[in-house]
Amino acid sequence: MSGMARGAVSLHGKHPFQCGRRNAQPPGNRNIIFYILVHSAAADNQGVGAPQHIPAHINPGLVFLGNAVIQKQRQIQERADRGKARLISKTVEGDLEAFEQFIRQKFTADGTLLSEMLDYALSARGKGIRPMTVLLSAALNAPAGQRSGGLRALLAATLVEMIHVASLIHDDVIDESDMRRGRASVNARWQSRNAVVVGDYILAKNMDLGLKSGQFDLVTHVCGAIATLCEGEILQNDKANRQEMTRASYLDIIYKKTACLIGVSASAGALAVGASREKQALMRKFGESIGMAFQIQDDILDYTRTARTGKPSNNDLREHKVTLPLLTVLESVGEERRRELLARLARCHEEDESVEYLQHIVENEGGMEKAARVMQEYLTRAMSVLSEYEPSEYRDALANLCVYVGERDR
Ligand code: FPP
Ligand code: MG
Repeated sequence: MSGMARGAVSLHGKHPFQCGRRNAQPPGNRNIIFYILVHSAAADNQGVGAPQHIPAHINPGLVFLGNAVIQKQRQIQERADRGKARLISKTVEGDLEAFEQFIRQKFTADGTLLSEMLDYALSARGKGIRPMTVLLSAALNAPAGQRSGGLRALLAATLVEMIHVASLIHDDVIDESDMRRGRASVNARWQSRNAVVVGDYILAKNMDLGLKSGQFDLVTHVCGAIATLCEGEILQNDKANRQEMTRASYLDIIYKKTACLIGVSASAGALAVGASREKQALMRKFGESIGMAFQIQDDILDYTRTARTGKPSNNDLREHKVTLPLLTVLESVGEERRRELLARLARCHEEDESVEYLQHIVENEGGMEKAARVMQEYLTRAMSVLSEYEPSEYRDALANLCVYVGERDR
């Protein structure tokens, strides 16, 4: 492999990894507007929509001003988000539109309740990183002169996305989460017993679609990831119950629950256009690397008060999950302190004070920064795969995807 030295994988004259990470932590609550901004973002993150914790002694005029600043800030952020998303998606915009139509056309249901739940699940699917990875990988690996991955890439994008959608519906039942992407989860709205079945229904429809297409190589390639997802979920639950997380187990879990499916998305794109086994393996390595980085960033965002994930922050602590930011702290302390911190973790489900305590420990002992460094290593690995390809607009788009994964706050 030629490595980064050969690879001119750069974005607008700037190496993607020089973009730098936003400082995840506010510099302090010294000024009131800043205070309001931070707390409003935290409140929003919990889907509440308005500042929740503004102390009574703050002047209403300042609150009004604070809200105006928040509004403006949000508009600027949203414009910037759209700009960044376009840097990734613009070369495959036609394919993405076809993909959306394909899903709408294929994923319909009989019965009012099932249709309603299905529409709801499909209408806020999030960032679409998996289908985007399929389509960009297909375009990057397509034979010269062929710009699109065609129907096979569309099918692969659909298969991976629907496995992901079903897995999150089930995950929210398992985690008893009431919120997903800033609105009620399917289980919160229609009860767990219906949510489980609608997740199964999506998986069943997906299988049906794949098998009827006759593209058995793609179906086999993609569906292997379903068992891996299940292994990751069980392993994670087991580790949370036993309170025995190690770096190796953490990496194994995030590989299984997230990186594997993103890796399969990237290799499926290459397979869809008939790329060689070597190219499929390269793409798999690319996808797995951004998948690891994606999940580590997700785990950092869970500790980030200003994140815009649409999920309550510190969910992982409340679910007794040891993720990388806390793990790096546990790795750096002695046995007695470790036991003390784990005892705190065991109380997080019912005790806000313990959640706050561990949040502060992670912030003050550099847990997020240490985790961010591990994430950057995976992104560097993904970029080194791209340097194996000739420069092209698709390679640039995938490099932009790496930048996005490392900088996202939602
Ligand atoms: C989110 O993790 C969960 C996953 C990425 C995978 C969940 C997998 C299963 C439930 C296995 C069943 C799979 C299928 C296909 C039905 P998280 O809870 O850490 O993230 P969150 O904060 O977004 O909920
Ligand atoms: Mg969850």
